[in-house]
Amino acid sequence: MNAHSRPPAGVSRTAVMIARARADEQARPDRLFADPLAGVLADAAGDVSDLDFVRELADTHFVLRTRYFDDFCLAAGAARCTQVVVLAAGLDTRAYRLPWPRPTRLFEVDLPALVSFKDRVLAGERVRPACERVTVPADLRGDWPAALLAAGFDRTRPTAWLLEGVMMFLSDADNDRLLARISSLSAPGSRIAIEHFNQEFRRLPQMNQVHERFRSLDALANSWLADPVRWLARNGWYATVAAPTRLAGEHGRPVPGITDPELVGPARIWLASAVRPRLAITLPQKRRLPAIRSVTKLVHRTY
Ligand SMILES: C[S@@+](CC[C@H](N)C(=O)[O-])C[C@H]1O[C@@H](n2cnc3c(N)ncnc32)[C@H](O)[C@@H]1O
Repeated sequence: MNAHSRPPAGVSRTAVMIARARADEQARPDRLFADPLAGVLADAAGDVSDLDFVRELADTHFVLRTRYFDDFCLAAGAARCTQVVVLAAGLDTRAYRLPWPRPTRLFEVDLPALVSFKDRVLAGERVRPACERVTVPADLRGDWPAALLAAGFDRTRPTAWLLEGVMMFLSDADNDRLLARISSLSAPGSRIAIEHFNQEFRRLPQMNQVHERFRSLDALANSWLADPVRWLARNGWYATVAAPTRLAGEHGRPVPGITDPELVGPARIWLASAVRPRLAITLPQKRRLPAIRSVTKLVHRTY
């Protein structure tokens, strides 16, 4: 094993934990998605049983979140968003397991060591992606847009962006910069799905042990988001948030304890998705704001 194909370390070990959760779901007869490669990748990554308590705490949240992002991808494909960027892709295998419309090109961005490890394991499986898959080793705190553009990203094509399970490991400033860069690369008709949590969630007593464990992986929960709809709107995105009770109900699963408002009060893990309108909107003059608000509603309704 060379230095570039070692099992994921540090914050990238969290990706192995998520792959384990997906592998467990794959084994269920009533699974919410199929992910046959999750177990292969998790097995190759070695023991992460020290993170089992995080998985148990999150309960079915990781499974429901996977399904939420899967459905987002399917809707994006149906809307002819044939360019996809999975930021902090970890051991995500959507390139292989979802029915992408042609000619979808999917970019996976993650830290270089994680990308090398995943590529090595998948190469040994002789599996073929269901789209054109391009891996982009890059740090989301650095100049990842340059790496993405060099890898063939086309800024004129509507793009579906995934930010699943990573914003909490970045600072507020990193996340603001990340969204600004995503937005500047997003043609009209682009979409984005994100996961984050609010400050109340960050402070839940049951999360203390998780923060402690993640701190030793250099995966500190560094940021939170009070209102994902407003955060996205500031960058020109029209967002909706998925209610955890509704999401669980739709899929016939119990509401995970850490997302159940009856148990956690105002603490929230946000799952939100948004679109960037295809229609150009003329920026409002201050005195004409009321009229423009109704135009905004009109644009919102078209999605
Ligand atoms: C919890 S995992 C989520 C992986 C994947 N999105 C999923 O849901 O299965 C977090 C991922 O973020 C990646 N990550 C953390 N910080 C990063 C950074 N600064 N730049 C790029 N990737 C990063 C890790 O390597 C890891 O793969």
